[in-house]
Amino acid sequence: MQNTHTNMETTILSALKIKKIKKSKLDKATLNNRKFGSTFTDHLFICTFKNGKWQKPKIKPYKPLKLEPSARVFHYGQAVFEGMKAYKDNTDQIWLFRPDENQLRINASAKRLAMPEFPKELFFEGLETLLKIERDWIPTEDGNSLYIRPFMIASGKGIFAAPSEEYTFMIICSPSGKYYTKDVQVVIAEYYSRAANGGVGAAKAAGNYGAQFYPTQKAIAQGYDQIIWTDSNHEYLEEAGTMNVFFRINDTLITAPTSERILDGITRKSIIAIAKASGIKVEVRKIKVTEIKEAVKNGTLKEMFGSGTAAVVTPISHFSHQNTDYEIAQVKSRYSDLFKKILTDIQYNKSEDKFGWRYKV
Ligand SMILES: Cc1ncc(COP(=O)(O)O)c(C=O)c1O
Repeated sequence: MQNTHTNMETTILSALKIKKIKKSKLDKATLNNRKFGSTFTDHLFICTFKNGKWQKPKIKPYKPLKLEPSARVFHYGQAVFEGMKAYKDNTDQIWLFRPDENQLRINASAKRLAMPEFPKELFFEGLETLLKIERDWIPTEDGNSLYIRPFMIASGKGIFAAPSEEYTFMIICSPSGKYYTKDVQVVIAEYYSRAANGGVGAAKAAGNYGAQFYPTQKAIAQGYDQIIWTDSNHEYLEEAGTMNVFFRINDTLITAPTSERILDGITRKSIIAIAKASGIKVEVRKIKVTEIKEAVKNGTLKEMFGSGTAAVVTPISHFSHQNTDYEIAQVKSRYSDLFKKILTDIQYNKSEDKFGWRYKV
């Protein structure tokens, strides 16, 4: 629906109320190559759930929230989120990448945390209207984009362990440079676990990330960047802290199947499709730590890399297991470079999108 009411600061677009800031804080000179996820645009999208239904959504200036100290999110961790990116092409057109997948996933995460689903129409109306308002904030230099963070928290009060009756759904945006600027080194988990059978590993729940910080700090203190999590017996490789993981043994691409312990990454499924379309043999199967160690020793492990919205495609140069460091010999023609190019060319509207993944805003 078009604007039905306009005054100096307030516009009503269908049910969406928009209050704009008077003066943007955008500094175009420093828009590119900002530290990932550290600065935020002028506005946010917000919608609250009360009395069993979602209330009128708003776009309003980005500023601190007022929350009850007893809000359930602080005590029981009912919080889920998504990570997406908006890209701008050289005609100034804004694009998203498979946003329908994020919309479905945040609701799947919400369901697992006993939170209400956020309606699809509101998600897209809020997201697209916000992006149009913040269009000048989308950086265009190589590796830059507008990182988008939809999230939902339990904002209802009460310190008794039960699901909240009130929730707040928001979308905030952050102009961001590259997440990793170089190849990463990882530790394979031998003691700590990220997820459990029957747990919340497949949900993008805030607690999954908080619980990784301590073991990840230990890995960082030893000179590594991330942990590759393993199954409960630490026998099979699963995923990294913010990325799914791929292995190339000879010319076969291998990745673990998704499960209730692993996030069903959108980049992961896109890479599997790109690899198949490129004639590369793909195996989605359980992969043992010992298999990778054997392959690195006998020279058949050609590549290891992570995939994710933030990390895009990030090569892994070393892994450590049982206090031994293994270096992956560099190959000339890397699958990771090929997948990154095909993926980002689609995302930035530099190539034909034969998969139908690009979404025009
Ligand atoms: C734990 C975890 N695994 C995998 C991924 C990759 O998912 P996607 O490709 O949908 O961003 C992410 C998020 O980016 C993540 O947080």
